[in-house]
Amino acid sequence: MNEAKLQEFMGRLVGDMGGAAIMANVILGEELGLYRAMADGQPLTPEELASRTGCNARLVREWLSGQAASGYVEHEAGHFRLPEEQAMALANEDSPVFVAGGAVVLASMYLDKDKIAAAMRGNGGLSWGDHHPCLFSGTERFFRPGYQANLVSNWLPALDGVVANLEQGAKVADIGCGHGASTVIMAQAYPKSRFLGFDFHAPSIEKARQRAAAAGVAERVQFSLAVAREFPGSGYDLECFFDCLDDMGDPVAAARRAHAALKPGGTVLLVEPFANDDLDQNLNPVGRMFYAASTCICTPNSLSQEVGLGLGAQAGERRLRHVFMEAGFASFRRATETPFNLVLEARK
Ligand SMILES: C[S@@+](CC[C@H](N)C(=O)[O-])C[C@H]1O[C@@H](n2cnc3c(N)ncnc32)[C@H](O)[C@@H]1O
Repeated sequence: MNEAKLQEFMGRLVGDMGGAAIMANVILGEELGLYRAMADGQPLTPEELASRTGCNARLVREWLSGQAASGYVEHEAGHFRLPEEQAMALANEDSPVFVAGGAVVLASMYLDKDKIAAAMRGNGGLSWGDHHPCLFSGTERFFRPGYQANLVSNWLPALDGVVANLEQGAKVADIGCGHGASTVIMAQAYPKSRFLGFDFHAPSIEKARQRAAAAGVAERVQFSLAVAREFPGSGYDLECFFDCLDDMGDPVAAARRAHAALKPGGTVLLVEPFANDDLDQNLNPVGRMFYAASTCICTPNSLSQEVGLGLGAQAGERRLRHVFMEAGFASFRRATETPFNLVLEARK
């Protein structure tokens, strides 16, 4: 036994345990409006923050102290301040790096611990809809900032000829659309195009309809309940899978259906969590987060469905290409990427 290695590992574990504990406090801060109340970057006392947010001053002091110990807020002489950079991640919902909303996904992993343990002891299956509802809103809020920052400005332009099509008026399917964040963002950007969102989870479809109505795009955006391998319609110019293909039990059948429903010359946009092809290349902070979430959420969902391929959220381009080649697509390429996303294009 190497004492120095043990000490180093214990140091890392204490950091991780602190991280897990502070994430519960991040969720509280977001829900209670504590970060938003500090977004102006001005120093304030716990009592001032408590009175701005209608919270208990003693608990706010404890919360702020934990935030300061994490480097999320600065402390000086009894006053606490949220720096501008931290406010972008924790207070500003429209910022491209806003993470506080999506942190709720982590809560679902703890809340569903017994169900996940049962799946691990059993056949591995736990369906999306059997999770705590905070997973559904958390997923929307986790992915939306990335879509808002990248989809219209970078990802769609990286596809061959797709933007021109969307500008003229295209028919678009968003498969596994969840709460429709990506669908609504595209509909707002391309007023001449029509969008059809599909998901097999009824409460998500209901929420997506509300989102489209609130955004004023409901006339051109239709959401329907459908499993991916049987989504209705044909003659699509663009078909999208945003962070959902690896959750599916039979992604090959979903891709085959996409192939059949795609117009000649049409395009499939596949967005998946960033991953390299081999496990050893994914042993890094991004891989750690996605493998952990995939153990509790994505892979059990896939295993609960027909075929149960279990691609996992770190499938990587090579395995994803294989899915699309098996489904009959002629070309498959990486159009672009971000530190968190692979953006892939498939064509007939
Ligand atoms: C991680 S969420 C992503 C949702 C959405 N695309 C987004 O980016 O916010 C995965 C979604 O895939 C859906 N899903 C999983 N398996 C499906 C299937 N076989 N058919 C249709 N939808 C499916 C789930 O209901 C869930 O909404």
